[in-house]
Amino acid sequence: MPESKVYDVLIIGSGAAGLGLALRLDTSLRIAVVAKREIKEGNTLYAQGGISAVLDAADSVESHVQDTLAAGAGLCDPDTVRLVVERGPAAIQWLLDQGVEFTRRSDPRGGYHLTREGGHSHRRIIHAADATGEAVEGTLEAKVRARTNVDLYENHIVVDLITAAKLGRREPRCHGAYVLDKGSGRVLTFAAHFTALATGGASKVYLYTSNPDVATGDGIAMAWRAGCRVANMEFMQFHPTCLFHPKAKSALITEAVRGEGGHLLLPDGSRFMERFDPRGELAPRDVVARAIDHEMKRLGVEHLYLDISHKPREFVLEHFPSIHERLLEFGIDITTEPIPVVPAAHYTCGGVMADHMARTDLEGLYAIGEVAYTGLHGANRMASNSLLECLVFSALAAEDIEARAPHYGPTPALPPWDESRVTDSDEEVVVSHNWDELRRFMWDYVGIVRTNKRLARAQRRIDLLRHEIVDYYSDFRVGNDLLELRNLADVAALIISSARRRKESRGLHYTLDFPATDPIQQHPTVLFPDSYIPQAG
Ligand code: FAD
Ligand code: SIN
Repeated sequence: MPESKVYDVLIIGSGAAGLGLALRLDTSLRIAVVAKREIKEGNTLYAQGGISAVLDAADSVESHVQDTLAAGAGLCDPDTVRLVVERGPAAIQWLLDQGVEFTRRSDPRGGYHLTREGGHSHRRIIHAADATGEAVEGTLEAKVRARTNVDLYENHIVVDLITAAKLGRREPRCHGAYVLDKGSGRVLTFAAHFTALATGGASKVYLYTSNPDVATGDGIAMAWRAGCRVANMEFMQFHPTCLFHPKAKSALITEAVRGEGGHLLLPDGSRFMERFDPRGELAPRDVVARAIDHEMKRLGVEHLYLDISHKPREFVLEHFPSIHERLLEFGIDITTEPIPVVPAAHYTCGGVMADHMARTDLEGLYAIGEVAYTGLHGANRMASNSLLECLVFSALAAEDIEARAPHYGPTPALPPWDESRVTDSDEEVVVSHNWDELRRFMWDYVGIVRTNKRLARAQRRIDLLRHEIVDYYSDFRVGNDLLELRNLADVAALIISSARRRKESRGLHYTLDFPATDPIQQHPTVLFPDSYIPQAG
């Protein structure tokens, strides 16, 4: 008989959003945190630049709000932006209280060093040198491991959410999830009053990405299949500067390098960003990534350069110790030579629609962090606003859950996972082949510069692939790779469908067929699943 587990709160994901929620919740609640690899692994761990917040007397909430709205190209929800920015300083204080050690200023003024990144008109990025994610994730992991009310399930991948429909009921409610224990191969049933998706983004849908392997959009795909609306999936962010090296997988070069004076260079050593935007290297990401893409195509080269070697060696080593060390492994000394760089998929601005308390369309289901669409990022996320969003919304979700928890009775009995009709796969090659094909056509046809024709091609391919994957899924026993592929295919379909609906260029969505921004299309792209049931009230 498959095992069944019962919790007050099931948290899917162990990055800043998931661990933030687990630690904010009252210790009287029984909590499960499920992560498909080890707890640490996820985008949070690799964050470099830092976390934006109004922390300097010369800065203001209004300025952070205006910068975020400007980067978002008219599509941010101004109420969400204000909510998040106003709560920024308290979120940073919470991290300090947990023990995160941010870099301090070396001058006599004391306090924390604040760096700059694209789109920010002030220095407002608090950071732990160039490895902020490691400092945050490491601290939160240690804290959560010490909590006796939290059970951690590493190497467990959630297969799907369990909704009321599984119980033959029509109301839009989530009751938990089916979870594959990757060690034993068994699918367990997790029942919970509250389930939180904190599964991160979907940038692995592209061939080249700054993200680690777990970023396969599972939460977005699961919520969509369960009947939640998904918004703004056409706005996939490409980070302008990832290391170009045959042996480097997902190596980001933080935007703070440009914030601290780094230059983008053509192969002949000349700067070019001023030709594209008066803000030069510190223009928002969409502008810089497009400019690099344009110059690479114009010159027919595989990469451009990012150079900080004109700064004193001690300065570079103080600010970018991890990047310096990492790039030495590839034979590049950033204190003396420029870094070969290319843009790569980095951040999912759209996601599962969530309100100001992180609630989704399903009662009992929350979405926090990169998996969510809250309206903060609009058509283009401003650098370092993402970890901030994770922290603010995990606190808000915790407040909401604690207010509702006393009103819930026992969880209903859930049907176990049924695998009576499936067998072990004899054709694993289908999964690896489709995985590669999908990521390549998304890169070629749904990348930084789009056209109607390319999007139509992508549509035809994803339709075919999804048919094949659904057949495969219903015939064979589930495994990690098949589950991720199925989710990637669903997310790719959402991206393509959203991109085809937006007949203008705005923020991260740039198409040669509609190069101008159209004021009439200044609204989010909201996709409704067939099984969407509006909530009463
Ligand atoms: P993640 O940290 O990605 O965690 C996702 C979790 O979900 C993981 O534990 C994973 O195992 C789990 N999971 C996913 N699917 C399943 C499933 N099916 N079953 C079980 N578990 C699952 N943002 C900033 O604000 N500042 C920065 O400086 C910055 N730098 C960045 C640098 C890099 C290289 C990258 C990749 C991103 C950076 N970002 C930065 C973005 C930011 O790091 C992420 O948006 C943020 O960390 C997302 O946190 P999260 O908790 O939502 O998800
Ligand atoms: C970076 O350090 O450049 C990444 C910052 C971010 O993605 O917010």
